[in-house]
This record gives sequence, structure tokens and C-alpha cells, in this order.
Amino acid sequence: MKQMTTEEIKNTFLDYFQNNGHLVIPKSGIIPKNDPTLLFINAGMAPLKDYFLQKTIPPSKRLTNYQDCIRLIDIDSIGDSYHGTSFRMMGSWSFGDYFKEESIELAFKLITEVFGFPKEKLYATVFVNDGTLPGVPDDFESAEIWKKYLPADRIIPSPPSDNFWGPPGDSGPCGPCTEVFFDRGESFGSTNENKDILISGRHIEIWNAGVFMEYFIDEEKNISLLPQKCVDTGAGMERFAMILQNKNSIHEIDQYEIPFSYIAENVLDLKWSRIVFDHLKTSLLMLQSGIKPSNQKEGYLLRRLIRRSLTGMYLNGCDLQKSNDFLSLISEHLEKPTGAYVKDEEVVSIFSNESGLFSKMLKRNKKYFDKIVAEGNLTGEYAFALKATHGVPEELVRELCNKYHITFPEDDFLEKMTQHKEVSKK
Ligand code: SER
Repeated sequence: MKQMTTEEIKNTFLDYFQNNGHLVIPKSGIIPKNDPTLLFINAGMAPLKDYFLQKTIPPSKRLTNYQDCIRLIDIDSIGDSYHGTSFRMMGSWSFGDYFKEESIELAFKLITEVFGFPKEKLYATVFVNDGTLPGVPDDFESAEIWKKYLPADRIIPSPPSDNFWGPPGDSGPCGPCTEVFFDRGESFGSTNENKDILISGRHIEIWNAGVFMEYFIDEEKNISLLPQKCVDTGAGMERFAMILQNKNSIHEIDQYEIPFSYIAENVLDLKWSRIVFDHLKTSLLMLQSGIKPSNQKEGYLLRRLIRRSLTGMYLNGCDLQKSNDFLSLISEHLEKPTGAYVKDEEVVSIFSNESGLFSKMLKRNKKYFDKIVAEGNLTGEYAFALKATHGVPEELVRELCNKYHITFPEDDFLEKMTQHKEVSKK
């Protein structure tokens, strides 16, 4: 495999598609324009939706770019080695031009000949309908094409839950996809309880190498054909870098290494250090895009990320003031290479205000948290009082319980909440 910096990986990907007749287009911001179905741009294709629907004509039938994306759907996976709530997606598209044959060939050649991924460590998944998506046939065609490049036992049939992509929001273009996985080796896992061929953490999806966009799903979940057959691909830049730079996680790649190691020196638990880095990074991206913490929609998600990063710092004995330094370091190392993650005066002031309020809440309630930890027990009544009387977010209490292996009193807590709602109604 070729050792490459993240910058080189990005340029190699874009140059390859440009040399194969694709026009390089600029990326968009993370706030969708004229698309009420999405809170954030969550894939490279999201800003291009109208091209698939032929509502507007693309500047070329073949496009490529890279795009900042936010995917909060993955929030519970953060802390592992390869998920992030924000990442950069390298993408390529065909609008009514080539379809499965050329797209798989383009993908395989780029991965093996240009990036030098060894062929024997690659797997491809193909769509096979388990009946959950009526009207969409199995993708035998892609399986046949892959046989030119990979042995049959490394072409893995996958159900719609894994291999039908989109729409990105409530409605839009979508289709069966074929994904490329890289085997990081036995040290990342030898087997799992279901004896799956692809083991999460060991076999990493490096590229959704072809969403064969043929369908449209509307808000009532009706499926119909798109006016033209298109291809949409997306590869996580950080995952490529993790593998080509032989790093254990996406957080350790060249561009992230300095801010992440500083956070990891201060937040000693590995999982939490990844969460703190990831959440602060995504918070910065949101703040610089003009989102402000609030109790609704995007603002709520930003608030949740800031609070959860401070929770991670608190639970691991890290001085909460350091969150400002962490943010500065992330910006310092990412602003230039990404053209995003900008920390200006307004960002600092909003972040300091939000983190300051949450830090005060944490300090005010420390005595109650300490009591729970000392007793190794939490009652429903106590959990309810923390939330209702002291304004402690439920998520924080759950994280505290997790950290100290204390059972969260689900039933009693729910009962207290229900009683409270009944009383409030009267
Ligand atoms: N839209 C697909 C994805 O996000 C391919 O880019 O995986």
C-alpha cells in the first residue's frame, strides 16, 4: 500500500476521477440549501439531489469532489476506531452516463492500482433482497462484475438494511449499493458471535463504491423509478488515511494526530478521548456554519455534542476549562487543510458561554454525583430529582452510571416521569 498524507489521498482520488472524465466541483457547506428533508449534509450526494431527479442539469454527466458531512445517526458508535460524527467524503457521480460495469472497474482500479490496497485483503458486498424491500431485484449483475476482480467467496450478499442506500432524508433518490471492505487483520478481531465473514472493527468499509441510483422513495415510502440511471460513490477520507497510514483509528491520522493526542493525554480513557475529540470537532464545524446551541433541531444537536464532550472530560477528571484549548488546537490543525473548522470570535464566545453554563451545572451537582458513585446505587427517585429539580440531563446520569457500572433504574425512573407528567396535566 502507498503511504500517503490525507492531503495526498484527497488529491489522488480527485485527480483519478478527473483523468477519467469527471469534472471536479466545489464542496458545499454542511447546512442543506432548499432541502427541508435534511438537517445536515450527510453525504456527498446530498447537495446534488436535484441532478439525480433531473430538476437541474449537472455541469457534466461525470462529477467528483469531496464534502464535509455530519452524521449524528452514528453518535452511539463514536469511541470505536472508525466512526465519526463528522468526516470528509470523497465522491464520484455518473448522471445517466456509465452504470455498474464501469463504476466497479473504476473503483477496483483506483483502490488496487493507484492506492495499492492488496487485492487479497478486499471484499465487496452486493445487494440481495431479503423481502423487506418489495419490487427491488437482487443485484446479480454487480456480483458477476466483481467476479472479474475478486474470488467468489469474497463477494458477500447483503440485505437492504446494509446495501440499499438512501434516500438521504425522508424522500429522494436511492438504490442498491456495492461496498468495498478492507481486512485489517486478525489483531482487530478473529471471529464474532454470529460467525460473520465481515467482522466490525476488523473489516472496514472503505468505499461505498457504487450506489446504483435507480429509484425514488417519496414521503409515504412509495418507490418508483428515477428518470435516469445514476451512480453515486462515497469514500471516507479519514478511513482511507487510517489504513494507508497504518493507524489504529481515524483519530490518529496525520491531520488529527496533534489535537487528538493532546486530548488523549488529558482524557485518559481511550473511548472517551475519541468521543471528546470527535464531538468538539463536529461542534466546531456546526458553530462556524452559524448554528447556535438551542433546544430545537440543529441547535439541540450542537448542544448535545458540546455537553457530551464536557461530560466525557468531567467523568475522566479533566479540567473543564481545557475544552477551549482543545477547540483551539482542533481549529489550528484542521482549518487550513479542510477550509472548514474555523474558530473566530463569535464561535469562541458562543462556545464559552454554552460550555461555561454546563460546567457550572456539573460543579453545582458534583456532590450528588459523588454520592451515587460512593453508594454504587441509584434509585428512580434520585435520578428523577436530578433531572427535574437540579436540571441534570438524563444522558449525563446514564453516562455516569455506565462509567461506574451502576444499573440505571429504568422502570422506577419511568414511573416517576409518568407520575410527574400526570400531575403537570392537572
Ligand atoms: N451516498 C452514499 C453513502 O453515503 C455513497 O456516497 O454511502
